[in-house]
Amino acid sequence: NVYSRITGTGSYLPEKVLSNQDLEKMVETSDQWIQERTGIRKRHIAEAEQTTCDLAEQAARRALEAAGKTPEDLDLIIVATTTPDKIFPSTACLLQQRLGNHGCPAFDIQAVCTGFVYAMDVANKFIRTGAARTALVVGAETLSRIVDWTDRGTCILFGDGSGAVVLEASEEPGILSTHLHADGAYEELLHVPGGVSRGFEVAVETGADPRFMQMKGNEVFKMAVNTLGRIVDETLAANQMKKSDIDWLVPHQANIRIIKATARKLSMDMDNVVVTVHEHGNTSAASVPLALDTAVRDGRIKRGETLLLEAFGGGFTWGSILLKY
Ligand code: ACO
Repeated sequence: NVYSRITGTGSYLPEKVLSNQDLEKMVETSDQWIQERTGIRKRHIAEAEQTTCDLAEQAARRALEAAGKTPEDLDLIIVATTTPDKIFPSTACLLQQRLGNHGCPAFDIQAVCTGFVYAMDVANKFIRTGAARTALVVGAETLSRIVDWTDRGTCILFGDGSGAVVLEASEEPGILSTHLHADGAYEELLHVPGGVSRGFEVAVETGADPRFMQMKGNEVFKMAVNTLGRIVDETLAANQMKKSDIDWLVPHQANIRIIKATARKLSMDMDNVVVTVHEHGNTSAASVPLALDTAVRDGRIKRGETLLLEAFGGGFTWGSILLKY
């Protein structure tokens, strides 16, 4: 039986920091409101010349080093992003060029905040079928480029960053089960109205800029809490596991209240939940691997432990991965 196992993790945050105090000067908000409603204290913002591929490269090199692999060892590269450098080539191909790998398949996955979970599932399937042995899976975003910095309902939430894992074929258990879902009916609750095919001149009823993210935060919040509760049940049932069998919850880092609701659903102490949202806000596809890498590097997550990764995002999309680290 071939499993896919995480053999290295890496992450990266741009140097420039935007604090809640900085945001107080940009929109009508307060540090206290942001912390109470979201748990976020600061976010990192890419420099103007820094692209998603730049962030992806940093995380990828760190993950490769941790796994003891070189770029030539890779036979699959997947990048999850909603903010690609170019319309094409894919950010995965740009990353492949940077790393100096020639020939392995490389492609992007777009599932917004669930992107990394989707990408891990796809890589897992490549490995389990024997189509790949060593895969690089990256979540990287320059979300600051699609944020309306005059909209206090969204601009306080998001930031830039990247995270990566190296997945390798292994006899020892790694990924135990994966669960992906989507429901496109919720398009209008969370979206960027403009695009390549629709154009950026589309009439937007709200009068908001079609280049930027629009969100009905309160409705998204309720959907996220309910949906993540259901996927926890689904994942446990599929593996005939009890809540207490999970050592670590590694959730999408969108909002501390959403994370706490999922932890309650698992009857899990917050000491067993990896929380990094206060450090970098919602970095979309980068958030799960950023949290994972943080807890691996500071020694909290140890080999052999059981991890539940989950995410919810635009689409709507949502998913989970149960794995032995
Ligand atoms: N500062 C101060 N006040 C604010 C701010 C702000 N930044 N933003 C909104 N408010 C006000 C609102 O105008 C409203 O005022 P009113 O009552 O006078 O109308 C009040 O605060 C409450 O607004 P709500 O939207 O009801 O506040 P809520 O408790 O829902 O918190 C939040 C808002 C933080 C956005 C929350 O809804 C949330 O986190 N939603 C989920 C967002 C999310 O995670 N999205 C990402 C999904 S993943 C992806 O794919 C991108």
